[in-house]
Formats: sequence, structure tokens, C-alpha cells
Amino acid sequence: MVQNIFAGKKIVIGVSGSIAAFKVAGWVSDLAKEEARVSVVMTSSAAEFVTPLTFAALSGNDVHTGMFGQGKEDPMTHISLGRDVDLVVIAPATANIIAKLASGIADDLLTTMVLATRAKVLVCPAMNNRMYSHPATQKNLKILKELGYDIIDPACGMMACKEEGEGRLAEWDGVKELLAHSLSPQDLRGVKILVTAGPTREPLDPARFLSNRSSGKMGYALAQAACRRGAQVLLISGPSFLTCPRGVTLVKVQTAREMYDAVLAHAADSTVIIKAAAVADYRPETVYEHKVKKENIAKELILERNPDILLELGKRKKVGQVLVGFAAESTNLLAEGKRKLLSKNLDLIAVNDISGDTTGFETESNQILLISASGAETLPHTTKLHSADLLLDRVRQLVGEKP
Ligand code: PMT
Repeated sequence: MVQNIFAGKKIVIGVSGSIAAFKVAGWVSDLAKEEARVSVVMTSSAAEFVTPLTFAALSGNDVHTGMFGQGKEDPMTHISLGRDVDLVVIAPATANIIAKLASGIADDLLTTMVLATRAKVLVCPAMNNRMYSHPATQKNLKILKELGYDIIDPACGMMACKEEGEGRLAEWDGVKELLAHSLSPQDLRGVKILVTAGPTREPLDPARFLSNRSSGKMGYALAQAACRRGAQVLLISGPSFLTCPRGVTLVKVQTAREMYDAVLAHAADSTVIIKAAAVADYRPETVYEHKVKKENIAKELILERNPDILLELGKRKKVGQVLVGFAAESTNLLAEGKRKLLSKNLDLIAVNDISGDTTGFETESNQILLISASGAETLPHTTKLHSADLLLDRVRQLVGEKP
């Protein structure tokens, strides 16, 4: 398992003649930073908008523009370029290139390469909104879908021609996530996974609450990684500033009791449940309707226990269901993990050390001590997204082993 899904992947970017070509220069730069091996093919009109030199500098590779020779180019570039590549992305895709691909025309390097490749091809249309909505373009896009191309719908908004509507090149963040999805193994396809994330907030009055340091990063990374691998992901999250990963269904909650209700409502329908949330164990016994004046706040706060969601899930665990807990610990990681694994009837527990500043709460990275009935293993110290993938590798194995 590589740490970064883009690292080492061979991606061909086909650029056609639209002003949006300048945006794709940023895409190429980002993919190169992610250590993808990017080759750029440009049509002659694309080269009118952005010079091949720009793409060569950003990708670190020669840019391919012509079918015939150009001295240094391999005479069979139209075949070799698309061979053994992981992904082809056509961006921006003009109405013209879409029409050519829909009818199988191969009259330049880009269209010929696309016909010759057997890699997945993603098409990112970008054009004036009336050109985009024209029945001819829509018909051609429908043909492309039927032929197995993936179409990334354009965005709405103001265009270079100062008209507003649908036709702007899709935003890179969303496209990048779709690329990551296309490059990921689909080994969790169709598996229903419920992930919880973030803290819960237990109110005292409209201004104050009890909570903890959880940012939601670990849970959101799990949801994102599972979704990329084809799972159907439901994310139940306490308050977090993070954006829900593309393709994931989000249910927002505030308190432990709200999380309890939401999780239990969906538990029976989930094959895998991963509880990365840091649920508050206690809540104030009294919740005041109006803000309590500081002079009137009692020095001792009376608390009552919140339900233990994971304990309840362990009691109700269905045959074939995989139940994964997390544990935030600062001492006795192994012993505490084993105790929680057994007491909550879990298949797996991911223990993270919260005593340092590079693992656990709020950090970008984590190091998980993974414990199951068959033993314990310390996973590498890595990004939370990669930690999530490593944990999901083990989850996938357990799903396969269950009856
Ligand atoms: O969100 P981040 O900033 O990225 O931080 C990630 C994390 C440290 C919060 C996460 O990796 C983590 O360790 N989550 C579990 C934290 C925790 O609450 O541990 P615990 O030992 O108190 O609980 C054990 C398990 O029981 C957890 O799966 C928890 O979700 C569950 N639990 C706990 C209490 C409760 N009332 N109900 C529960 O379901």
C-alpha cells in the first residue's frame, strides 16, 4: 500500500483549445507535487492558449503536440503514450474534441492516443454555456458515456466570455477526488460502512458546553478512504469544521445522545461500523435555557453518564458485522486496548497515543496500535488518510473472513 494514491501513477493529461487550459496548468503542477508521472498532450489550438513549455516545466516531462516526428518524438507516440497508463484525463475538453471522440475521429495526436489507449478516460468539458447545452454537444456527451468515458460535469458560474451558466471547467478539488477514486482499488465496492467522527458537545446553557479536542480528521479520513475504495459510506459526525468528503453521506449531530440515536438507527443496515468519534462520557445534569450569569454558576457541576454507543453496538452485533472501536490513550495502550476490545465485543480496536503532538487529537498524522483477537500490531506513523487505508486493509480482510 503506497502512502499517496497518486505517487508513481502514470497519468496522461490531454489539453484541448479553451481558455480554461491555464487552470489545467495548476492541476498538472499539483499532480507532479503528488509524485504522479504526468505526460501532457496538447492539441494545436491548446498551444495557442498556453505554451507547451509551461506544461513541460510544471510536469517535468516533454509535452507532446504533433503526430509526426518533430525530431525527437517517438514515431509511434500516438500508441506508446496511452500504453500502460493508469488514467487519461482530457481537460479542458472543448465541444470540438468531444464531438471528435464521440464519432471516433482520430486526426491528431490527442484523439489518436485516446482511441489507442485502454486506460480509463475522464473527460472534463469546458465551454460557453450555450455551446455546452446545445443538443449536439449533449448528444455527443451521451455517446461518450455509452462508450465508457467518465464525464466530469462542468460547474456553473461566470465564464471568460462574461456569460453566466453551466460550462466552466470543474473545480480541481472535486476532480482530484474523482481521480483518486479512479486510481484506488475498488476492494470495498458496495460494502456499507458507518463511520463516526469528531467530538460531541454536551450543553450547559446556550453559551457553554462540555466537549473534547477531537477535530474529526481521523473519522473524515476513514470516510474518504473507504469511499475512494468503493464503499457506501455514512458519516455520523459531531461538530467539525471539515468538509464532508465527496460521495459520502453526512449526518450531523451535537450530543452523545443524538449520536446514539443516529448510529443505532443505521447500525443494523451496516456491514462495518467504525467508531472514531470521541464521545463525551458525561453531560451536565441540568441544561439551562438561558445563559447562566457567572456569579450563579455552581462551583461543582453535577454530571450524568451518557450512553456508551459502542458497548450497545457490541451487544447488538449481527452475524457478519465488523465492529471497530478507537481508543484515545496516554498510558498502557496495549492493556487498555485489549480491555476495550473484549468489554465492548469488538473485532478490532485502533488505539492512538494522545500524549504526544504528532498522533491522536487534531494532528495531521497518526500511529495506530491495532488490536484484534489474533494479536496486536503497530502500524507506521503516517498521515491520517494513509492510517485510514491501512486500517481498512484489515477491515476488508475481516469482512472476507466473516460468514
Ligand atoms: O478527531 P481527531 O482530532 O482526528 O482525533 C482522532 C481521535 C483521537 C479522536 C480518534 O482517533 C480516537 O481515538 N477516537 C476515540 C476517542 C475515544 O473516545 O476513546 P475512548 O477510549 O473514550 O472510547 C473508546 C471507544 O468507545 C471509541 O470508539 C468511542 O467512539 C466509543 N465510545 C466512547 C464513549 C461513549 N459514550 N460511546 C462510545 O461509543
